[in-house]
Amino acid sequence: MRETVTPIILGIESSCDETSASVSKGFRVLSNEVSTQEIHKNLGGVIPELASRFHQKNIVDIIQKALSSAKISKDQLNAVSFTIGIGLIGSLFVGASFAKSLALTLNIPLIGVHHVRAHILAHFIEGVHYNPPDFPFLCLTISGGHTKIVLVNDFFKINLLGQTVDNSVGETFDKVAKLWGFPYPGGPLIDKYAIGGNPNRFSFSKPKINGLNFSFSGLNTHILLFTKKQLKIDSMFIKKNLPDLCASLQKVICDILIEKIENAVFKTKIHKVAISGGVSANSELRKRFFHISLQKGWEIYLLPKEYTLDNAAMIALVGFLSYRKKKFYHFSMGTKK
Ligand code: KG4
Ligand code: ZN
Repeated sequence: MRETVTPIILGIESSCDETSASVSKGFRVLSNEVSTQEIHKNLGGVIPELASRFHQKNIVDIIQKALSSAKISKDQLNAVSFTIGIGLIGSLFVGASFAKSLALTLNIPLIGVHHVRAHILAHFIEGVHYNPPDFPFLCLTISGGHTKIVLVNDFFKINLLGQTVDNSVGETFDKVAKLWGFPYPGGPLIDKYAIGGNPNRFSFSKPKINGLNFSFSGLNTHILLFTKKQLKIDSMFIKKNLPDLCASLQKVICDILIEKIENAVFKTKIHKVAISGGVSANSELRKRFFHISLQKGWEIYLLPKEYTLDNAAMIALVGFLSYRKKKFYHFSMGTKK
């Protein structure tokens, strides 16, 4: 293993439809290149087979770009980290194979990083917060692939307090957006079209699920049936009411997420709350969390938008944390050490 004062790590993310590579030096991001696959836009969602093909096509360029914008040569790397899961198997495989061969060629350690851990620990990227959250803190991590509340005791001690029992919150945004005629991913478009809409115009049902778990399938079905019924009465219903529909959807989702995190704060007596994952880019949710922090005196941690969505900077960061602990990936066995 090459020893330097602060290790330089290449991070590779390929779990879904973003091919991303980042070079970090300790907690500092030197580069973060992200290429989003546009191909899925009009196909209603990510098509796994196409996603892995496009990762294959993009990965070399993206890694080269990340190295050159960081002004780092391959020989200066101390380790390669990659997303080991969760995600689309074929897409993960592209990143893993590339990371593995690069690490083998350079004779440096390989580090497998769990995608959700990376979303959570993105709050420790240098410069993201004036002071990153002290342990322990709560993290609401919400994206297209997961919806969880966790208690972060340490970089490597993260306890699950609650999660969705069916659809994720990002999936809900995307499915409803598709129903209302938006391309994929619909979440950011719902956010955009909600501006100026009346959030109290339509009342969508909140699921009744105990504890800190979430459920979104009932809300999806309710909106599907409601939309079909309205379209029978007026075929222009969606077009005529789009801002109010989007604002009302955003409101019910924010209400659900906020109610659960309030319960988690009450249960744990921890008032430090971070939010991670693609859905944490939602402007209404960010506004609501900001107001809560003022009202309730919570410490709230929001990420800059570039680090809410899938990115390799968070993979490089966890790569660095694992490197310090010598938590490496076994080449030969194909399993985590
Ligand atoms: O974290 P991410 O990039 O990928 C996964 O790990 O899944 O999250 C993507 C999800 C998509 O469902 C997308 O619609 C949603 O995040 N999203 C948003 C917004 N920006 C992205 N949802 C609501 N409002 C947004 N502004
Ligand atoms: Zn993600």
